[in-house]
Amino acid sequence: MAVEVEVQWRRVSDDPTGIEALAAVLDERERERAARRSNPARYVVAHALLRTCAGDALGVRPSSVEFVRTCATCGSHRHGKPTLVGTDLSVSLSYAGSLAVVALSWDGEVGVDVEEVDETDFEGFNAVTLDESEAPALEGLSGPELRCARALVWARKESVLKATGHGLVVDPRQVVVSGPAEAASLVAWHGEHPLAGPVQLADLDLADRTHVAAVAVLADEPAAVRVVTA
Ligand SMILES: CC(C)(COP(=O)(O)OP(=O)(O)OC[C@H]1O[C@@H](n2cnc3c(N)ncnc32)[C@H](O)[C@@H]1OP(=O)(O)O)[C@@H](O)C(=O)NCCC(=O)NCCS
Repeated sequence: MAVEVEVQWRRVSDDPTGIEALAAVLDERERERAARRSNPARYVVAHALLRTCAGDALGVRPSSVEFVRTCATCGSHRHGKPTLVGTDLSVSLSYAGSLAVVALSWDGEVGVDVEEVDETDFEGFNAVTLDESEAPALEGLSGPELRCARALVWARKESVLKATGHGLVVDPRQVVVSGPAEAASLVAWHGEHPLAGPVQLADLDLADRTHVAAVAVLADEPAAVRVVTA
């Protein structure tokens, strides 16, 4: 039986109208964190979306959802993956460029990542991101095609690292994913912390050519991903 993952995404507008209403569902600490960001609106849209989706799934008001952040590396609750108190619902959140994306699953730990294509590409990308077995799949690509391919590979890797909760403490070169022209999958994990079990990986179609996104779920069975937008 497929494991179910729901993904919701929103566009972050440059128009600040409505941001205050969204910020009203955040808690005090989130509002403070938003104010410190270079792009507060993006933070507010993303966290309001997370609270709304989690609230809907749990049958409570968005403002009543209780999160704890837990770092898989040091155990601190001051940073790390957001987890929900008193429930098995797993959530993950990502925002970049003009998009905010949230993933939820009752069936396994989820990780989602969205990347703005033009921001992910940089000089030396292959050396810091790819295992040597991954490089051939990007050979021969150039221009926008190469930028999209790199962004997609990066989103796949980061979504796995957000599902496990390690984030970039694990070197992305140790997370070997399928080539950009192939269906998304985790090919190998060379991280020193062992993986708890199989990882299901999927690319997300967000109907936006300037961003790419992927979702991972720690589960034995293939994922059925439902993408919803406003
Ligand atoms: C997780 C991480 C890859 C996200 O980076 P990013 O691409 O800049 O940001 P995204 O928009 O995709 O995701 C941000 C969200 O991921 C979530 N997140 C943070 N750390 C996470 C982790 N370890 N695992 C899963 N999700 C995490 C948070 O919800 C965060 O949003 P917030 O900061 O607004 O609360 C990066 O922050 C990271 O590697 N953090 C780990 C750092 C760490 O653990 N250091 C060691 C401390 S001992």
